[in-house]
Amino acid sequence: MNIATAPIGLQAAADATDAIVAVRGVSKFYGAVEALRGIDLDFPRGQLTSLLGPSGCGKTTLLKIIAGLIRPDAGSITVDGRPVRAPGPERAFVFQDFALLPWATVERNVAFGLELRGMQRAERDRIARHYIGEVGLAGFEQKYPHELSGGMRQRVGLARALCVDADVLLLDEPFSAVDEQNRRKFQEDLIRLRATENKTFIFVTHSIEEAVYISDRIVLLSPRPGRVSRIIEPAIDRTGDPDAIRRDQGYLDTVEEIWQGLKQYVD
Ligand SMILES: Nc1ncnc2c1ncn2[C@@H]1O[C@H](COP(=O)(O)OP(=O)(O)O)[C@@H](O)[C@H]1O
Ligand SMILES: [Mg+2]
Repeated sequence: MNIATAPIGLQAAADATDAIVAVRGVSKFYGAVEALRGIDLDFPRGQLTSLLGPSGCGKTTLLKIIAGLIRPDAGSITVDGRPVRAPGPERAFVFQDFALLPWATVERNVAFGLELRGMQRAERDRIARHYIGEVGLAGFEQKYPHELSGGMRQRVGLARALCVDADVLLLDEPFSAVDEQNRRKFQEDLIRLRATENKTFIFVTHSIEEAVYISDRIVLLSPRPGRVSRIIEPAIDRTGDPDAIRRDQGYLDTVEEIWQGLKQYVD
């Protein structure tokens, strides 16, 4: 998608139930290790879907296959009906370990994707500053990554992904290296961004609470080889006080239900 044109998502927002990303029969081996087996999934446009499962079940592998960073051994991915063979501008990846440029300021890091596309400096800085504000980092534009906390670095990664105006945001456990307070704040921000940005989020986590707190849909993956074991759509109203969600009966019941189902796999 050209950054100068209207986001594709805007035109299609009327039909919120159609799938923007479709995964069909995806399997992946690393040598003799079977990471994923026969994954079929649709990701509804404009929704936040979490991939939830224990460590090693293939969550990162599936996300990287959707990103086009690795190829599956079998099966296919389409985004808006087009086959995925490589990374593309309609998908942005937020890495677990931030992947920031250490020698560049926050502003330059956030604008980096736009710089690569050849956008003029004034324009890309304007867009970058907007998203730096959106993720709560106003005032930190001229800082360097080593001057920031882990939570703030992850916000830079998120702002960078928002900046390039991709339709699909792929987030791989973005809060795992962040302390509990920042993690909660960040989850609240994500709910707000989910409501205001016209984007599709695919979010990897191993936290049941986190998945239920933020997700429209939760895809439960089985332990290795990863297979889709269940899809859960928590019935939670997220339009009010974000703290009220953690006391919501639907939230509490869904957390408990998922835990009861996963318990059998814990040794
Ligand atoms: N590059 C690799 N080479 C060999 N094995 C890998 C590689 N990447 C992942 N694996 C293995 O594949 C399985 C799934 O890994 P991963 O997708 O990272 O799971 P998750 O993100 O759910 O923790 C794990 O058993 C992991 O050890
Ligand atoms: Mg992982």
